[in-house]
Amino acid sequence: MQLSDKKVTLSLSDGGQAVELPVYSGTVGPDVIDIRKLYGGTGMFTYDPGFMATASTESAITYIDGDKGELLYRGYPIEQLAQQRNFLDVCYLLLNGDLPDAEQLTEFDALVTNHTMVHEQMYAFMQGFRRDAHPMAVLTGLVGALSAFYHDSTDIANAKDRRTSAIRIIAKMPTLVAMAYKYSLGQPNIYPRNELSYTGNFLRMMFATPTEDYHVNEVVERALDRIFILHADHEQNASTSTVRLCGSSGTSPFAAIAAGIACLWGPAHGGANEAALQMLEQLQAQGGVEKVGAFMEQVKDKTSGVRLMGFGHRVYKNYDPRARLMQETCKEVLQALGLENDPLFKLAMELERIALEDDYFVERKLYPNVDFYSGIVQRAIGIPTSMFTAIFALARTVGWIAQWDEMLTDPNYKIGRPRQLYVGAQRRDVPAER
Ligand code: SDX
Repeated sequence: MQLSDKKVTLSLSDGGQAVELPVYSGTVGPDVIDIRKLYGGTGMFTYDPGFMATASTESAITYIDGDKGELLYRGYPIEQLAQQRNFLDVCYLLLNGDLPDAEQLTEFDALVTNHTMVHEQMYAFMQGFRRDAHPMAVLTGLVGALSAFYHDSTDIANAKDRRTSAIRIIAKMPTLVAMAYKYSLGQPNIYPRNELSYTGNFLRMMFATPTEDYHVNEVVERALDRIFILHADHEQNASTSTVRLCGSSGTSPFAAIAAGIACLWGPAHGGANEAALQMLEQLQAQGGVEKVGAFMEQVKDKTSGVRLMGFGHRVYKNYDPRARLMQETCKEVLQALGLENDPLFKLAMELERIALEDDYFVERKLYPNVDFYSGIVQRAIGIPTSMFTAIFALARTVGWIAQWDEMLTDPNYKIGRPRQLYVGAQRRDVPAER
C-alpha cells in the first residue's frame, strides 16, 4: 500500500479540533482513508453496518471491479484462468502469488494427492448425524473436528505449519464432502485414489460404489474443475471475513474454516445456488416460462419476500464474470450430455432475459451472479441440489486458507474487534424489590 499525497481533513460542525487522516492507494481500485486515529482525535467511531464502504485489510490475492464486472486472482483475469488452467494451478496461484511451472505443479499435485485421506476415526463422527442432516451442517462439524487431529502443526506463527494446514484442508475437503454425500445415501465411503486428478478423485468418491466403479467423464471433470476455479476466492466476502475474524484470535485454521463454512451456508451467500435451483424447479413445476411474468411481479413486490435467487451482488453492479463463464459451461455440458433442451436452463435464460430488460432490475443494477447458473450445471453432472453449497465450500477453501495465511503474515495483524453505536438503556440500578 502506498501513502498517497492526498489527505482527508475532517472538520466538525461544533467547532471541535479538525482531524487530518492519511489516504492510501493500492495497485488498482479505490483509495482508502486510514481512520485509525479518528477515535483518538474526535472520540467518535465510523458507522458502516454491513461494511458497505469499509476496507478491513489490505490484500494482494483477489481484485474485483464491480462496475466493470472484473475479477482477478493475483492479477490474472478469471476468464483466462478458467479457460487455460486447472483448479490446482489456481490453488498454487492463490497460495503462492504466481502460477506454477510444470515442475512446481507436479510437486504441488503430489503433495495434495498424498493428503487426501482423513484419519480413520473421522468416519466415526458420521454416526452422530441424522442421515437427512443438511450436508453443510455435517461439513461444519467435520471440518471443525479436523482441529482435534493435527497437533503436529498448530503453531500458526510458523510458516511451515501454516502451509501444512493449508495443504491438508485443500486435500481433505473433497474427501469430507463426499463422506457427507455418501452418508446421506446410506452408502459406504469411497476412499481417494492417488492416480486420479483432484477433481476426478472427488467425482469418483461421490459416485462410485463398492459394486460398481465410476469412470471419470472428461467433460464432467472439466466442467466441475472450472466450477471450482470460479468459486475459489472472492475478496473480503462474508465467509472470508468470517474466516479472517475467527482466525485473528489465533485459533486453529480448521476451526476458522469451519466458521467460514457455517457462514457460506446462508441463502444470501453461498446457499443461493441451492435456493436458485429450487426456485427454478418450483417455477418449472408451476408452469415454467408461462409463469415467469407473474413470478417477476412477485419478486418486484417487496411485501412478497420473494427474491430472484442468483441475482444481485454487493459488489458487482454489472454482470458477474463468473455467471457468464458458468452460463458457457452450462451450454457446453448440456450439449455434451445431450441435454441441450434442459427446461431449467431455458427457464433460467428466459428469467435473465426478462430481468435484464426490466427497470426494477436495471435501476438496482441486479445481474446474474455466480449462483444463478451453477446449480443447473451441477444438476446436469449428477450432483444433488443439497450438495451445491458444499461444493462451493470445497472450492472456496483455498481462498479462505490463502486469506487466513495472508492475514497472519500482515504486519498490521491484530485480533479483529469492531465497535458499535450503543442505543440501549441508560445506566440504571436493579430495583430493590423484584
Ligand atoms: C454470493 O460477497 C461476495 O462476493 C459473495 C459471493 C462470493 O463469491 O463470495 O459472490 C457469493 O454470495 C453471491 C450472492 C448470492 N446471493 C443471492 O443470489 C441471493 C439473492 N441476492 C440478494 O439477496 C442480494 O442481491 C445480495 C445479498 C447478494 C446483495 O445484497 P445487498 O448488496 O445488501 O443489496 P440489497 O439487499 O440491499 O438490495 C438492493 C436492492 C433492494 O431493493 P431496494 O431496497 O433498493 O428497493 O435490490 C433489491 C433489494 O430488495 N434486490 C433484489 C435482489 N437482490 C437485491 N430484489 C430481488 N431479487 C434479488 N435477488
